[in-house]
Amino acid sequence: MAKRGTVYICQNCGFRSPAWSGKCPECGQWGTLVEEVEKKRGKGVSWTGISSSKPVSLSEVSASNGERLKTGIGEFDRLSGGGLVKGSVSLLSGEPGIGKSTFLLQLSGRMAELGKVIYVSAEESPEQIRMRAERIGILGQNIYVVPGNDLEDVLRVVEAENPVFAVFDSIQTLYLPYIESASGSASQVREGAARITNFSKSKGLTSFIVGHVTKEGAIAGPKVLEHIVDAVYQFEGDRGYSFRVMKSLKNRFGSTGEIAVFQMGEKGLVEVPNPSEFFLSEKPKGKPGSVVFAGIEGTRPVLLEVQALVTRASFSTPQRRSKGISQNRLSIIVATLEKELGYPLRNFDVFVNVVGGISVDEPAVDLPVALAIISSYLGRPVSEEVAVFGELGLAGEVRSVRLDELRIREAVRNGFSKIVAPSKGKGVIRIRSIREVIDLALV
Ligand code: TYD
Ligand code: MG
Repeated sequence: MAKRGTVYICQNCGFRSPAWSGKCPECGQWGTLVEEVEKKRGKGVSWTGISSSKPVSLSEVSASNGERLKTGIGEFDRLSGGGLVKGSVSLLSGEPGIGKSTFLLQLSGRMAELGKVIYVSAEESPEQIRMRAERIGILGQNIYVVPGNDLEDVLRVVEAENPVFAVFDSIQTLYLPYIESASGSASQVREGAARITNFSKSKGLTSFIVGHVTKEGAIAGPKVLEHIVDAVYQFEGDRGYSFRVMKSLKNRFGSTGEIAVFQMGEKGLVEVPNPSEFFLSEKPKGKPGSVVFAGIEGTRPVLLEVQALVTRASFSTPQRRSKGISQNRLSIIVATLEKELGYPLRNFDVFVNVVGGISVDEPAVDLPVALAIISSYLGRPVSEEVAVFGELGLAGEVRSVRLDELRIREAVRNGFSKIVAPSKGKGVIRIRSIREVIDLALV
C-alpha cells in the first residue's frame, strides 16, 4: 500500500498512479514512474488564474485580449501568428545546448525596447548571461537578471519590478518550497509552471518558460506542461549542423505545426529566410542514397534531403534505423519494396536520415524514402534535377498528397526541373507506381 499522500507520477507524461510499475501505462515509457509526495492543493485560484466563484456574462467579457507584442524577429513573429499575445505564457523546449537561452536572450533584447525585461536565471550566473549578451551584441539596458531557484522568491522580485516581459530559465531548476518533491520532478515542474502562468495572467505579464527535454526521461518532460501554457515551441536540430528549427507544437492564438529556421552562428541565432536552399547546401553530388524531398512543414513548403544507406546485414535480424521519420513508416516502406520490386532487403540493414534534424510526419515523405533506399541498394545516384514527393500505398501505388502545387513551385524556384510526383503540372513527371521510379529518377 502506498503511503498517504504518496503518488507515482510519470516524469514523461504526468500520468498518476497509486502504485509503482516499470512501464507507464499512459505513454509506454519505461522507468519513468517516480514516487512523489503530494500535499492538498490550497484554496485559491486555479492555474488559469480565474476565480470560479462568480459567473460572468459572456457579452460583458472584454474583447481587448489579444494585443500582440511584435518581437521584431521576423521568423518568430510569423511562427507565433503575429507576435506574442500580451499576458500569454509560452514554453520553449529542447535538448540542453540547442540554443534556448540564446534565443530568449535575443528575444529579451527586442522586448527591452518596449519596457523592462526580467531574465530569471536559475541555471547560469549573471556573469555568464552578461558574456552571452556581449557575444550576441545586446547591451542589456532594461534587462535585469534575477538569479535564484526559489520560485516564490523570484516571483516576489518580478512583482516588485513590474516588467513587460519575463523569462524563466529553466523550469527544471526552479522549485516551489512547499512541494516536497525534488526540483525537476513532475510535480515541481507542473506546479511551478502553473504558478508562473497564474502570476502572468493576473499581472498581464508576457512570459516565456524554458523546459529541457532529455531522452532518458530523468527530468520531467514538457508534456506535463503543455496543458498549462498558452503556446509551446520546440527547438529541434542536429548538433552536427548549425540549423535550429523551431516548431510550434501548440498555440492558443495561432496555428501549429509551423516552423521557423535559424542558424546558430558566432553572434547567436540568425534567421534563415530560405530554408530550402539552406537544407540542401551540403547535399553530396552524384552519390547514391541522397534524394531531395519537396515537403510541407505547417503551411510552408521546404525542400529537405533524405538519405538512405543499405548495407549487407551484419546479424541475422536486419537493422531498420531511422532519424527524422518514424520507424514504423520505414518498416512499411521496406516491406513494400521487398514485395513490389523483389529486393531481398531481409538480408540488408537499412538506415534512413532526414538531414538537418527535422522530423517529418507526413505521408508525402514515403516516395523520397523509398527512392533513397532504391538508389543506395542499386548504387545508382538520383539525377541532380530531380525532386520528389508522394505517398506510397501498400500495393506499391503512389498516391497524391496535399498542397502539391506549393511543393512543385518551391522545387521549381530552387532550380529542380524534374519533379517526380503523383501530380500534374509544368516540370512534373507523373508517377503512379513505385516500379516507375527507377527509370524516372535514377541516372
Ligand atoms: P544555449 O543557448 O546555452 O543552449 P540551451 O539554453 O538550450 O541549453 O546554447 C548553447 C550553445 O550554442 C553552445 O554550444 C554555444 C552555442 N553558441 C553559439 O554557437 N553562438 C553564440 O553566439 C552563442 C551565444 C552560443
Ligand atoms: Mg540554457
